Amino acid sequence: MSKRAFNFCAGPAALPEAVLQRAQAELLDWHGKGLSVMEMSHRSDEYTAIAEKAEQDLRDLLAIPSNYKVLFLQGGASQQFAEIPLNLLPEDGVADYIDTGIWSRKAIEEARRFGNVNVAASAKSLDYFAIPGQNDWQLSERAAYLHYASNETIGGLQFDWVPELGDTPLVVDMSSDILSRTIDVSKFGLIYAGAQKNIGPSGLVVVIVREDLLGHARSACPTMLDYKIAADNGSMYNTPATFSWYLSGLVFEWLKEQGGVEAMEQRNRAKKDMLYGAIDASDFYTNPIAVNARSWMNVPFRLADERLDKAFLAGADARGLLNLKGHRSVGGMRASIYNAVGLDAVEALVAYMAEFEKERG
Ligand SMILES: Cc1ncc(COP(=O)(O)O)c(C=O)c1O
Repeated sequence: MSKRAFNFCAGPAALPEAVLQRAQAELLDWHGKGLSVMEMSHRSDEYTAIAEKAEQDLRDLLAIPSNYKVLFLQGGASQQFAEIPLNLLPEDGVADYIDTGIWSRKAIEEARRFGNVNVAASAKSLDYFAIPGQNDWQLSERAAYLHYASNETIGGLQFDWVPELGDTPLVVDMSSDILSRTIDVSKFGLIYAGAQKNIGPSGLVVVIVREDLLGHARSACPTMLDYKIAADNGSMYNTPATFSWYLSGLVFEWLKEQGGVEAMEQRNRAKKDMLYGAIDASDFYTNPIAVNARSWMNVPFRLADERLDKAFLAGADARGLLNLKGHRSVGGMRASIYNAVGLDAVEALVAYMAEFEKERG
């Protein structure tokens, strides 16, 4: 086996080595057909089987009820920021949004281009270190939907609860925590996730949408952004991102082999406990997020003296601990510990952190 680094990148992020090896083995000659998946017609029987299996495996992993469509679309999660209001927000309607960080704010700014947005709550007054409880939300009377990001990838702020809003559809950006722990899909109207963290390669976005929310797109909605058209065409109104879809399918198979989302949840709990435990046990490293809102997937942390940041990162690189630099808007460090980042990676990181603190702290 090749020597692979421990990759803590926020996205595009680490993929399971077994998946990459399988893709490599199948690259030139997929299942004896004499061609690569990249070279197949998306209408061929072979590719149809690949696409359908990927969808079924995702349905199994998340126990997606039959009244939900699963779409494999392009444009990343960011395109959904526009696609959601174009499909779900009537021109004279209002949509509620919760601001917990950079990604939810981007969703808010984009939705404002299309209609009335009510920011029902913002974590700003809490310095984005905690999530305002639902009792403090200023909800609209008749919101078309409520949008929030279950995990803010940059700030490291994650909901550990699901809002309870009666009939108002919940629309959630799960880009950075889908498949990391169990969820009840039936609580949501629409779930979307850019693939490049816990699913597969970038460019693809997975949308899981309740059927009654289809067919309400505005007349000005571009054909390519209409969920109903995507659903009616099996996500193949045009040529889909065939290789990304295939590779995501391999990740879903891998997840099933690992014991599914329940097993991932256990593993992810152990990983985040180890990393936050190390941060909390030291006076040298800090994470400012309220304990119940700490992200399981993206762990930002600071060194006591930021002049040591460069040396910390250089030492990490030398040990094959890659991509630990925090987002430029936040500074410090960030370790993204998605499904494909094993406990061994977190152990190596924690050992290095202790060593660095001893030498330089
Ligand atoms: C929570 C969240 N939402 C949306 C996005 C945007 O995703 P994309 O680059 O696929 O548009 C990201 C990307 O990192 C993200 O972390």
